[in-house]
Amino acid sequence: MPWFRRPSSQPLWKDEFSILTADERYVNRRQLTKFLTLTSLGMLVGNLWILVRSWLYRAPVYPATPVARLDEVPVGSIKIFSYPGPREACILVRTSAESWVAYSQKCTHLSCAVYYARQANRLECPCHEGYFSLTDGHVLQGPPRRPLPRVLLERRGEALVAVGMDLGDKEA
Ligand code: FES
Repeated sequence: MPWFRRPSSQPLWKDEFSILTADERYVNRRQLTKFLTLTSLGMLVGNLWILVRSWLYRAPVYPATPVARLDEVPVGSIKIFSYPGPREACILVRTSAESWVAYSQKCTHLSCAVYYARQANRLECPCHEGYFSLTDGHVLQGPPRRPLPRVLLERRGEALVAVGMDLGDKEA
């Protein structure tokens, strides 16, 4: 079928929806223009959506929140708590009498919950054997590419208080 519209006695749909197999792969200029216009509109809407979301984005707030009393976490043990919101599980590990670390419990690969492997002294994800350093949360092994977000802790008297998160956006 030629690119120009020839005078035809048959209806338009017969031209545009050919029943001849040989014509099925043929795309006329109008169809190409429709395709390009719709694709461009889709991309424009997508980019506008991204722009609006970036305007509405607010940096997360990290309130100072007591997460544990020192006497409830003996050396070598853990406590699970939520920070900064009630749905964000974190794991606190007391590594010695005067040191402790806390991380998001959500694995940076596919969000399984990590646990403290005391023998190996690291955090492990059971889903795909992703291992994280207890010292700074960096990836030791496995598919995760980003370190675990670290919860910043302060000691206030006999309490440990979460005061922020280090999201550690460096790749492993
Ligand atoms: S979800 Fe943790 S390693 Fe895959």
